[in-house]
Amino acid sequence: MNKRIVALTINGVDVQRKVASRMLLTDFIRDELKLTGTNVGCEHGVCGACTILLNGESVRSCLMLAVQADGYEIETVESLQNDNGTLNTLQQSFKDCHGLQCGFCTPGFLMTVTSFLKENEDPTEEEIREAISGNLCRCTGYANIVKSVQRTVQSQRTSKSLTEPVCHTDHKQNETVQIS
Ligand code: FES
Ligand code: FES
Repeated sequence: MNKRIVALTINGVDVQRKVASRMLLTDFIRDELKLTGTNVGCEHGVCGACTILLNGESVRSCLMLAVQADGYEIETVESLQNDNGTLNTLQQSFKDCHGLQCGFCTPGFLMTVTSFLKENEDPTEEEIREAISGNLCRCTGYANIVKSVQRTVQSQRTSKSLTEPVCHTDHKQNETVQIS
């Protein structure tokens, strides 16, 4: 089997591995590096479950080979927590606003939104919906995910304590909505 050396930085750690040339980046992250927060759903770029950051940009790792990531900096969902192990603002907002979906799709949402909020610090609801429209979940709605992102923006803007009751979740509204 044709193998090549891949050297990259993942979540701040330099790694080097000899891998099969055709190994997917998702498989490299999950199987070689044991970072299983990055999930594999459709494996053809549709669902967003495999979203990571590549040099700060969100990408679908199922559409890349591991060898194509040689020399890059990768961030996975495992990188999001604060240094002391607590949830970062985005994760805490998802928790508080009931934006957490299943463990399968949530990491992808978090990584997509992480990238999005770097580009747009004060998005409209429409822009948030557009940003997450490439992350698929058919189990429930997107309403509380949108609220989670809005709360993150609010928290970052005001630096208010996350314990303040700024998220008013209406469970009845957390039903499937059309994302256009
Ligand atoms: S597994 Fe990559 S987009 Fe679905
Ligand atoms: S795919 Fe995760 S809750 Fe639907």
